[in-house]
This record gives sequence, structure tokens and C-alpha cells, in this order.
Amino acid sequence: MTIAIIGAGIAGAACAAALAEQGEQVVVFEKGRRAGGRMSSKRTEHGYLDLGAQYFTARDPAFQAQCQQWLSSGIVTHWYGRLAQATADGLQVSPDETLRYIGMPSMQAPVTRLLGNVDVSLGRQIDNILFDGQLWQLQSNGVSAGRFNKLILAIPQQQAAALLSPALLSNPELSQIFALPALLPCWAVNVQLEQPLWPYDGIFFKQDSQLSWAARQGSKPGRCNAGHWLLHFTAAFSQQHLEADGDTIAQHAMQALQRLTDKTVAGQVSHYHRWRFAQQNPDYPVQGAVHLPELALGLAGDWLNGGRVENAWLSGRQLAQSILA
Ligand code: FAD
Ligand code: NAI
Repeated sequence: MTIAIIGAGIAGAACAAALAEQGEQVVVFEKGRRAGGRMSSKRTEHGYLDLGAQYFTARDPAFQAQCQQWLSSGIVTHWYGRLAQATADGLQVSPDETLRYIGMPSMQAPVTRLLGNVDVSLGRQIDNILFDGQLWQLQSNGVSAGRFNKLILAIPQQQAAALLSPALLSNPELSQIFALPALLPCWAVNVQLEQPLWPYDGIFFKQDSQLSWAARQGSKPGRCNAGHWLLHFTAAFSQQHLEADGDTIAQHAMQALQRLTDKTVAGQVSHYHRWRFAQQNPDYPVQGAVHLPELALGLAGDWLNGGRVENAWLSGRQLAQSILA
């Protein structure tokens, strides 16, 4: 069986690895120059900067075993950040026992490792898909990318909807899956500060109208030096300012830091990234993965399984198991 997977994030990679392990002929198409998707560290002159996922945790035994394997081969390491939370009562230290992982040397590393024995076509955006009742035909930039027995979409929900034809989207099972937006946006901003800001490495903002997270990149092994703080804006703020330009968001970031610390903050924004499809809509139902054998179609991704890196990996594996059954 020939299988095309669109998307080389951790869901597509986990699915591809499990299928290839069983001898299936898999090709993964990825529009980016690197695999990883939202597990994304940017290489800067100061070291790697995690612009997407900040860390991941493992609750499911299968993913715990996978992390253990990555740990022993140096693909991931632990991040022991000193954590705090900001509430209406102010900022308090908030230690916990959770084991948190980061990719080494960058967040992409686990995804690249999963794809080690898989045929991956990078820099190849699939912009047209057609099912003739037996085979899926894929096109990239007006040129055929091949015909396959099965197609797996391992891309964010809203990007999958844009690829599927109106006829397919009216299929009763699919129409339900696409009825409610699954992923909400997130503006990520990196600020390079001239003085220490907080005596912590990661802060969960519980009630702030603008920020949801701040992390000192220098506290993570192999990342940018101490002055770099990566900020995430809330889904509501990011939605409201989705089409704002980066400089405006940078100003909001500096003002938010001054407001939250109640002091003049010396520093500058070095990077920003608008993630249009970033974090789980809490109202979207958890479904694991979707396999429609009659359409030779599968869907996987964090958005089908509750968000988070672990859930994306589990979704990809679940789809592979369903196809192999
Ligand atoms: P993606 O990583 O989005 O992969 C999809 C891939 O498909 C992408 O590489 C994309 O380029 C490609 N693609 C899309 N369309 C096409 C096309 N037409 N043709 C070819 N390729 C295509 N999770 C955590 O567990 N911990 C965190 O701390 C955390 N923080 C986050 C912070 C931010 C700012 C963001 C954005 C996400 C964060 N997440 C976090 C979520 C985590 O990154 C995701 O759950 C996970 O990486 C999703 O993996 P995925 O494979 O489902 O999708
Ligand atoms: P986790 O178990 O560390 O965190 C889950 C949630 O528990 C946190 O969001 C936070 O609200 C709370 N929490 C955890 N430790 C805490 C502490 N010491 N003090 C106070 N609150 C604490 O990690 P998990 O479940 O793997 O989630 C990943 C993280 O990624 C979450 O923080 C999530 O919000 C974030 N995320 C952000 C996205 C974005 O677009 N900004 C997208 C997807 C995930």
C-alpha cells in the first residue's frame, strides 16, 4: 500500500514512523524547509530560540517510553525550570514535580528522529488533492506529487479544511469534524532584556488579559542566553490582534512587561511569530484520530486529541494502528 502523509509535525512523523516500521510505503510532504511544525526552534546568533512549543510532558505510558528512548539517545533532555504563577494575588513561586522535556539541540529533534527511515519531501506544499474513488492524486504548485492508495492529513484543522473539496466536507462524518474551529491563534514574542526581570525561568499567567506565558530561554540547555524571554499572548488577545503587524505586537509586549513588573523595562524585541493555528479550543471535542476507510483518508494531529505535543504523537500513532489493523 502506498501512503501519502501531508505534514511533518510530530503527529505526521509518529504516524509515518509506525507505518514504515510495518513495511508500508510512506511519503511525507512538508511545506517547510524543516520537519517539526509547531515544535520549532529558530537558530539565532545567540543560540536556539523556542518560538513554538516550550516543552512537553508525558502522561501516557507509551509516550513516556518514547521519551525515555529519546532521553537515552540525547534527542531530548529535561528542563528543570523554576516556575511561578501570576494571579490576582501577584506573582508566587509555584514548584511542582512534573517532568518536562525539550528537544536537543532544538525542538525539531524528536520529529527529525521519528522520520529517520521515512521518505520525506521537504519544501513541498500540497495545494490540491483529488480522490477518484480508488487513488488519491496530489499536486504541488500545479505539478503532480504522485498517486497513493491512502492519504493522511496531519495538518491543523483549518488547513485540512482548505484542502478538502466542498463535496467531501459535506460528508456527514467530516462535516461534524470541521463544524467548530479546533485551533486558536497565538502571538509569540522574544524580548532581549538588559537586566534580569524575574527570579524565575517560567511564569504561568493565570488571569492576565494579554500574556499567558513567559520563559527565560537561557534556563533551557542549549538555548539563547539569559536575557532572552519568550512571551506568549493569550488566545483571546491573539485573535483580537491577529492581523496587527509585528511592530505593534512588539510594543504591546514591552508595555505588558512594564505593567506586570511595574518598572521601566530596558530591552528590545528580537523576534516575533504569528501562529494562526496554535492552541486547542477548549470547546472542541477530543476524538483521538479519524480513519475513514471508504474514502481511503485519515486525519491526525493535536487538534483531534486535546492539543499538546504528547497528544499529537498519540493521535499519529493511533491513526497508524487503525490503518494497520
Ligand atoms: P504541526 O506541528 O502544526 O504540523 C503540521 C505540519 O504540516 C507543519 O509542519 C506544516 O508546515 C505542515 N503543513 C501544513 N499544511 C501543509 C500542506 N498543505 N502541505 C505540506 N505541509 C503542510 N505543546 C506542548 O505540549 N507544550 C507546549 O509548551 C506548547 N507550547 C506551544 C506554543 C505555541 C506558540 C504553539 C504554536 C504550540 C504549542 N504547543 C505546545 C502545541 C504543540 O506545538 C502542538 O500540539 C504540536 O506540535 C502539534 O503537532 P502536529 O503534528 O499536530 O501539527
Ligand atoms: P504542564 O503540565 O506543565 O501544564 C499544564 C497547565 O497546568 C499549564 O498551562 C498551567 O496552567 C498549569 N501548570 C502546570 N504547572 C504549573 C505550575 N508549576 N504552577 C502553576 N500552574 C501550573 O504541561 P502540559 O500539560 O504538557 O501543557 C503544555 C503547556 O503548553 C501548557 O502550559 C499549555 O498552555 C501550553 N500550550 C501553549 C500553546 C500556545 O499556543 N501558547 C499551545 C499548546 C500548549
